[in-house]
Amino acid sequence: MAELTINKIKHQVTVELNTPLLWFLRDTLNLTGTKYGCGIQQCGACTVLIKGRTVRSCGVTIEEVLDEEITTIEGLSNNNSHPVQQAWIAEEVPQCGYCQSGQILTAVSLLNRKPNPTDQDIDRGMLNLCRCGTYTRVRKAMHVAAEMMKEA
Ligand code: FES
Ligand code: FES
Repeated sequence: MAELTINKIKHQVTVELNTPLLWFLRDTLNLTGTKYGCGIQQCGACTVLIKGRTVRSCGVTIEEVLDEEITTIEGLSNNNSHPVQQAWIAEEVPQCGYCQSGQILTAVSLLNRKPNPTDQDIDRGMLNLCRCGTYTRVRKAMHVAAEMMKEA
């Protein structure tokens, strides 16, 4: 039986291989931190990381990621200790919270590639949609996280 490695744990795939990764995460594994927003790879609510890069899990099938190591928000840390999570808490970024797991994983990916992002880098790299309009706090928290990551 096919397996998927998610947050360093191997899971047997018990659904059709053409199922979108998002539904396997949410419905089969109950990893509900990954959200369904638009379903058409536009909003970023369903973002996960593969090899440190963001992937919108509504738009890839299980079959397409069988050999990959997938990280969801649940796998970022087990106690909210990742600097991006700490910065998000310090700056009180979330409003309703719906988009924020995708925002955080996108921020992690961007900061790993660009440890000193400018506001322009952040605006260009953070394309996740937030219906609550938390963009200003997201930007501020990313600068805080960048400092924390330098000190770590
Ligand atoms: S639900 Fe996947 S990008 Fe919106
Ligand atoms: S915090 Fe509500 S959608 Fe972003």
